[in-house]
Amino acid sequence: MKFETNDEGHLTIGGCDALTLAAQFGTPAYVYDVAQIRGQMRAFAQVFEQHHVQYAVSYASKAFATVAMYQVAAQEHAHVDVVSGGELYTAQAAQFPMANVSFHGNNKSEAELKQALAAGVGTIIIDNFHELTLLAALLKQTPQRVQDVMLRVTPGISAHTHAYDQTGQTDSKFGFDVDSGQAKAAATQVLANPQLHLLGIHAHIGSQIFEVAGFVAATKRLLAILTDWHETLAFTPSVLNLGGGFGIQYTDQDDPLPAERFITAILETISAADLPFAVPAVWIEPGRAIVGAAGYQLYTVGSRKDVPGLAPFVAVDGGMGDNIRPALYQAKYEAVAAKDPAAPATETVRLVGKYCESGDILIDQAPPPHLTAGAVIAVLATGAYGYSMASNYNRNPRPAVVFAENGQAKLVVRRESFSDLIQNDLSYL
Ligand code: LLP
Repeated sequence: MKFETNDEGHLTIGGCDALTLAAQFGTPAYVYDVAQIRGQMRAFAQVFEQHHVQYAVSYASKAFATVAMYQVAAQEHAHVDVVSGGELYTAQAAQFPMANVSFHGNNKSEAELKQALAAGVGTIIIDNFHELTLLAALLKQTPQRVQDVMLRVTPGISAHTHAYDQTGQTDSKFGFDVDSGQAKAAATQVLANPQLHLLGIHAHIGSQIFEVAGFVAATKRLLAILTDWHETLAFTPSVLNLGGGFGIQYTDQDDPLPAERFITAILETISAADLPFAVPAVWIEPGRAIVGAAGYQLYTVGSRKDVPGLAPFVAVDGGMGDNIRPALYQAKYEAVAAKDPAAPATETVRLVGKYCESGDILIDQAPPPHLTAGAVIAVLATGAYGYSMASNYNRNPRPAVVFAENGQAKLVVRRESFSDLIQNDLSYL
C-alpha cells in the first residue's frame, strides 16, 4: 500500500504529520487527504473530457456524507447523489447546488420526496411504482412544475463482489425489472405525465468491482433498452447513468484497475454501438473510488493479550463502532505505525477494537511493528463507508473527522461527547 512520509520518517496525510494530527485532534479519528479526493474527482472528469462526451461525476455521498465533503464536491463541480432525507439535509446545509443533486433510494418516503421537491433537487431517480405514484401525486399540488427524473432499472447483471454489495442481479430490491416489462411500463407512465421529464435510465450493478466486463455488459443492456424505448415509445434519452462500484485497493492483495479504465470501457462500448439517437450524457456515481483511499483512521494502541501459540491480540481505542466493515463484510485492511510506517514487521498480531464482541477484529494477523501501548497507528483506505456507517455501539462517541490539505489540518466533524450520546434520551421518571 502506498503512503507518504516526512523527513522524520513519520506518516503524513495531506502534508500533515500523523503523530501531530493524533496529538492535536485525539484518536480515534478519521483523517482525509483532501487533495487526493479532489484528484480522484478530476481524474474521472478528465476521461470524459478527453472523449468529448457530456458527463456528470456524481459523488455517491453514502460513502462519506458530511458538510465539508459536500463543500469539496461543490468546489470540484461534481454532482452528488443522496439516498435519504438526512443526506439531502446535510447537502442543503453545505449549500450544495441542488440542481446537481440526484435523489436515490428504494423506499423514499412521502416526507423525503416533499423535502426533495421543496429543495429543488435536480433529478429524482425513481426506483419503483409506489414512488412513481407518490411523486406524481405530490407534483399535482404544483401543476406548473416539471421534475427531471430517471428510472432505475435492474439490468440482470451480477457483479463479482461480496453478496451484500451486489445490486444489479434480477433478484434485487432496487429498481424496475426489465425482462418482466416493469421498466417499460414505468417509462410509459412517466412519458404520459407532463409533470415528469424523463432524462434516461440508471443502473448500479454493485460495489468494489474489479473487472470492466460487468460495466460493458450493463452499458450494452441499457443501450438496448433505450433503443427499444426509442423505437416503441418515441423516447430520446439525454442521460445514461451507470452508477458507481469502481473497486479500490485495500491491501497489497488487491490489484484494482485505475478507476478511469472503467470509464474508458463504458465510453468505448457506447461509441461502438449503433444508436438511433445521439449519444446521451454519461453519468457515473462513484463513492468508494473518490473517498476510499483518501481516508486514514488514526488509533492509539492500548492493551495487549498474549495467547500461547497464537498471534497476540493488540487492542486500539476504537473498533467496530467506527468501522463496521471488517465485522460486517470480513473486509480486509492494512495498518501502519504513524511513527515509522515503512519499518518492516517484527511480529504478527491481531489488531482488535475495544468493543464487547469477539468479532471486533479490525485486522486479522496485522503486521505493523512497534505496537506498544501509546503507539499511534493508521488504518489505510478507510475513507469510504467507514465514518458513514459508524455507530454509537457500547455508547462510544463517534470519532472526530479531520481534513488535511497542503500541510493544514482542519476539524470538520467534532468528536462526539458523552452529552451528545444522551441528547435524545428522555427520562422515564
Ligand atoms: N450508486 C448507487 C445507486 C449505489 O447504490 C451505490 C452504492 C453507489 C452509487 C456507490 O458505489 P461505490 O462507487 O461506492 O462502490 N457499505 C458497503 C457498500 C454499499 C454500497 C451501496 N451502494 C461497503 O462498505 O462495502
